[in-house]
Amino acid sequence: MVTSAAIFFAANVAVAGVADEMISEFQQQGVQVNAAAGKSFWETTFIDKKTGQKRNCASCHGDNLSQAGKHIKTGKVIEAMAPSANAERLTQRKKINKWFKRNCKWTVGRECTAQEKADVLAFLKVL
Ligand code: HEC
Repeated sequence: MVTSAAIFFAANVAVAGVADEMISEFQQQGVQVNAAAGKSFWETTFIDKKTGQKRNCASCHGDNLSQAGKHIKTGKVIEAMAPSANAERLTQRKKINKWFKRNCKWTVGRECTAQEKADVLAFLKVL
């Protein structure tokens, strides 16, 4: 009994771990984390300066984060963003940083700030 409880606990911690770790690092930098602001950032539509195209995070991740989305340029399926629907989500720091960088540049036209990243992580991690 003791052993299985310990394993269960360890597995649980591993799932939430990376996003929580990153959020607390942002907090140490003075960021006040706000999941509701993360949600509105996620839903904000930005206009691309060069093309005039409307872009937001849902352009590829879709409107329902518990379901797969579709890459707006390549048409490739992007698995669900909600960790409750996709256990691999937000488990690798390298992957999170890589895609924040790439997706913010494409969607917003610049890199996301620490505030925006912390807010988005707080919004996504409980989905
Ligand atoms: C042009 C398409 C596209 C847009 C728009 C887009 N993403 Fe993504 N995103 C991807 C792809 C492709 C991946 C990597 C494939 C995967 O994880 O399934 C990804 C992965 C991610 C990840 C990594 C998730 C993990 O499992 O670690 C984060 C975080 C992320 N995106 C955030 C955002 C945010 C925030 C926005 C809006 C500012 C956004 N994305 C807009 C295509 C996009």
